[in-house]
Order: sequence, then structure tokens, then C-alpha cells
Amino acid sequence: MTWNWPLIRTISMYMFLAAMFGMVAMVVGLMFTLKSSCNPPVEWYQGSVFYEVFPASFYNREGQVGNFMGLWQQEPYLSALGVRGVRLNSIFASPNYPEDYENITSLTKIAPVLGSKESFELMVKRLDSKNISVILDLPLYPLYKQLPSVIAINTKSNESFLTQEQNDIAKALQQWRSSNVKGFYLKGLEYFVNDSKLHDSLRLWKRIVGQDCIFIVSEEFINNIPADKSNIIYNNIDLVDVRLKIEQGVQTLTKQISDIQNGTLFSKRGMPWVHWSLGSVNTNRLANVLPFANGTIGATLLELMLPGTTSIFYGDEIGLQAVNDKENERQDLKHLHHLTSMPWPNKTSKILPWMPAERSSAIFDQVPIVSAMTRLRAESPSIYMNTVNKDGINKANMEVKYSADDFLVIQRWYPRMSSFVVASNLGSAKKTVDLSTLLYSGNVVVSPGIDSKPSTISFKDISLWPGESVVIVLD
Ligand SMILES: *[C@@H]1O[C@H](CO)[C@@H](O)[C@H](O)[C@H]1NC(C)=O
Ligand SMILES: *[C@@H]1O[C@H](CO)[C@@H](O)[C@H](O)[C@H]1NC(C)=O
Ligand SMILES: *[C@@H]1O[C@H](CO)[C@@H](O)[C@H](O)[C@H]1NC(C)=O
Ligand SMILES: *[C@@H]1O[C@H](CO)[C@@H](O)[C@H](O)[C@H]1NC(C)=O
Ligand SMILES: *[C@@H]1O[C@H](CO)[C@@H](O)[C@H](O)[C@H]1NC(C)=O
Ligand SMILES: *[C@@H]1O[C@H](CO)[C@@H](O)[C@H](O)[C@H]1NC(C)=O
Ligand SMILES: *[C@@H]1O[C@H](CO)[C@@H](O)[C@H](O)[C@H]1NC(C)=O
Repeated sequence: MTWNWPLIRTISMYMFLAAMFGMVAMVVGLMFTLKSSCNPPVEWYQGSVFYEVFPASFYNREGQVGNFMGLWQQEPYLSALGVRGVRLNSIFASPNYPEDYENITSLTKIAPVLGSKESFELMVKRLDSKNISVILDLPLYPLYKQLPSVIAINTKSNESFLTQEQNDIAKALQQWRSSNVKGFYLKGLEYFVNDSKLHDSLRLWKRIVGQDCIFIVSEEFINNIPADKSNIIYNNIDLVDVRLKIEQGVQTLTKQISDIQNGTLFSKRGMPWVHWSLGSVNTNRLANVLPFANGTIGATLLELMLPGTTSIFYGDEIGLQAVNDKENERQDLKHLHHLTSMPWPNKTSKILPWMPAERSSAIFDQVPIVSAMTRLRAESPSIYMNTVNKDGINKANMEVKYSADDFLVIQRWYPRMSSFVVASNLGSAKKTVDLSTLLYSGNVVVSPGIDSKPSTISFKDISLWPGESVVIVLD
């Protein structure tokens, strides 16, 4: 018998390599688990990315209005974008949905074209299974001109739970909660700031939905609440929607951001977080208010660098433009032009059946860039955390480093974590800025890659095209 030495040697070598590889993999794996377990924990809605959808316009079959089924069919798109919540801004029945989507008749009935209660629940279940929570806009005003009465809550008993049958809003919350809705934007709550039932109502509502289910309110509401009731109110809401006035230029934007950061919401731990938004059902489309539609990518990257939760209005990630009804065929539908349908690639279907216009233009190439940014955000406490809390004192972890002439530079940090910088050109001309007195060196991690930027960047001359933002990790 002869030993096959070459074979034995080869096998030994492979075994050795495999063992080495295994050990390296173990160390790498350990590094990653250590790294992620060190990230400060937050609630599911804090620092995450939401996506606001007009369900009738999201995914429609030829000649039909979009519906819940279409929404869950597009779940892979939402997952790829990295959104943690989908906010449906309008699902309730109105005499002529969707044209008169604002004229709702109740907070419990779904517009029949969107689907049944069963298909709604099926959609919620499917999105939940992918870790995407469903949030609803609950338009309280003008459906209610004053809040329905509640018996003051006695915290020691559940007395008020006995009377909620008489209260429509409470009933609606209970119904949607049992369909696994994870949050509500209480639209129009600012109309009730002087209502004597406001704080008891909020307490009751929060008790009905539970701690894990969130309430979003507008910045306007927060700015007008009576001071003596503010603690009760802050304790029962979770996010405050702040719309960034990006179209008004960098000075306004900088002031808006610093006012919020110096305000009540950032003053101590346990306050509601900010929910930043750029577009919404109530505003013109981002692509139409910026100098160029492609500026939506720069604006979105900038928004995704802010401290707090961020919301993307459907289509803003692809620079979707409002319907262009040149002939003014349907003047009566003007109020819906920004609610155009998503022009999915490979889909020939025309615009929404009720809208006489061409397909809106959109840039789907922007999607992978937004996805890269949501992923970076999700794993970087420097970006997703809203403040640094040291010895019980809240400190901002964001600073505007440069703000002039349509050019904005913001830095984000967190103790013992990498720091990031976003540089944005919000104007309509190419700009080059010298930041070498403010920053040293870093690597580009997310950018639209117009000039295929070198991965290292010199702060001596940062040059950006109109509508471009680059995100840089500092050395
Ligand atoms: C769901 O998302 C949260 C972040 O909001 C994350 O902590 C959690 O691990 C995710 N769960 C799954 C099953 O992916
Ligand atoms: C909604 O209702 C108001 C008041 O009844 C009415 O003036 C308005 O035209 C309606 N909106 C639509 C889009 O039908
Ligand atoms: C009140 O009702 C809630 C929800 O049903 C329940 O979790 C809680 O334990 C009740 N509290 C008291 C004091 O009975
Ligand atoms: C609430 O009261 C204040 C002071 O009286 C008033 O200025 C404000 O307009 C009122 N707000 C609403 C929404 O009624
Ligand atoms: C916010 O606070 C910082 C530090 O105290 C200050 O430099 C800045 O001017 C303040 N901004 C506003 C808008 O008050
Ligand atoms: C769909 O579109 C993508 C990119 O837009 C393209 O790569 C793919 O080939 C298309 N598929 C069909 C069936 O047209
Ligand atoms: C957007 O379009 C303008 C005008 O065509 C162009 O100058 C600019 O470089 C583009 N910006 C981005 C971010 O693609």
C-alpha cells in the first residue's frame, strides 16, 4: 500500500484553510454583533423612515383606482426602500372617492374602491410580516367641529372605558387598533387646541391604543397648546410632524432646523420625536417646488440625515412630478394634481382613470441611492438618534457647519461612533465650496454619483451639481 502524499497534503491544506476561514468569519461575525448590540435602542418609530401614500394612486391596474391589494403587491418596493412604516393618508369613504377624498363621512368606513375591511387586514398582515407597520391619517376636522365628550379619566379605574361606546373617535381608534394599525396621524387636531376636552380625550385615546401604537400631530398643534396642559399632551403623543420649507432656501431651512432643535421637543428625554417631512398630501410636489425635479434626490438625502423620524411622500424618492393637465380639461381636479399615480417601470397603464393627462415623469434610478441611505441611517446611531443624553442632559448631535448661497453642510455625531456630514446644493447652478477650515477628511458613502465622485473627498473644494447631496463619513 502506498500513501497518496500529494492528495493528503492537498486535503490538509484545505482543512487548514477552512479552519482559518472559519476563525476569521467568527471574528468578523463577533465584530458585527458587538457593533450592533452597542447601538442605543430606540422605539420602532423613533429615527426610522416612514412612507406616506395616497392609496388610490399607488398601484393601479389599467383603468382602475389603486387599492389595498396593489399596495401589498408593491411590498418588495417598500422593503427595498427600507421604510419601517407606511402611512395611508386617505382611506375613508366619501360620496365620490377619490375626487373628494377630504369629504369623509365617518372614521370607520373604508372607501369601497380601495377594498374591504378583510383586504385591508390582509394588507396590514402582509406588510407586518415584512416589518412594515401601517399608520392611518385620522382626519378629525372638519368631520368634528368639537371633540365628543369623554368622562374625565380616573386613572385608578377603567370607568371611561364604559362610556367610550358613545364616543365615535374612541370607537374608530378601537376598530383600527383591532385591525393591527400601529399608529395614527391625528389630522386637524390643531383646531381643538382650545377645546376643554382635549387633554382628557388624548389620555383616553392613548389608553385605548396602548403604548406601542403611536400618535402623530402637526407642529402647528404643538405651537398652540395651552401651557398648563402641555405635559399631559406631550405624554400622550409620540411624533410631531414638521414640514421642511426646503423651497424657501438654505437660510429659512437652517433657522427652521435650529429653532426646533433649541425648542421644547429636544429639551429633555421622553419628549415626542420630530417627524420630518418634505412633501405631503397638503402641499405641492417636491419635484415641482425645487429648481429641477432631479433635486428631489439631494433633498431626500438631506432629510434622511436629520435627527428624528423621517417621512417620504410617495414618489418624491423618484422625483415624481404633478399631473400636467395642459389643456385644462378638468379644472375641477386641480386639487388632485399632486396625487398622481406612481409611473411604475414596465407598466403601460395610463394615468389614473379619473385624471386626463400624460404619465408623470419620474427617475427610478434614484431608488437605489435612497435605499443605500435608509440602510446607512438604520445602522448609524449618529444619524438615527435625535440627541445625545449625557448625565440626564440632552445635547444636540447635529450642527449646521455651513449655510450660504444655496449650499448647506450638516454634521452628525454620536459618542464612540463614526461622524457623518451631508453637503447639499439646493440651488440651480453648480457650486464649489472650500470647507477646509471646518472639516478635515472623509470618504463619500452615499451620493448620486454624477461625476462618479472619488471615494475620498477633499473639503478644500467640494463641488456639487444643482440638486446634489453627498453623504460623507469622517475619518
Ligand atoms: C424590524 O425593524 C426594527 C427597527 O425598527 C428592528 O429593530 C427589528 O430587528 C426588525 N425586525 C425584523 C424581524 O426584521
Ligand atoms: C366637499 O364638500 C364641500 C362642502 O360640502 C363642497 O363644497 C366641496 O365641493 C366638496 N369637495 C369635493 C371635491 O367634492
Ligand atoms: C384598564 O383597562 C386596560 C385595557 O383594557 C387594562 O390593561 C388595565 O389593566 C385596566 N386597569 C384597571 C385599573 O382595571
Ligand atoms: C385658541 O384661543 C386663542 C386665544 O384665545 C386664539 O388666539 C386662537 O385663535 C384659538 N384657536 C383656535 C383654533 O380656535
Ligand atoms: C440654538 O442654540 C445654539 C446654542 O445655544 C445657538 O448658538 C443658536 O443660535 C440657537 N439657535 C436659535 C435659532 O435660537
Ligand atoms: C422591466 O424594467 C426593468 C428596468 O426598468 C428592465 O430591466 C426589465 O427588463 C423590464 N422587464 C420587462 C419584462 O419589460
Ligand atoms: C439636475 O438637472 C440639472 C439640469 O438638467 C442638471 O444641471 C443637474 O446636474 C442635475 N442634478 C442632478 C442631481 O442630477
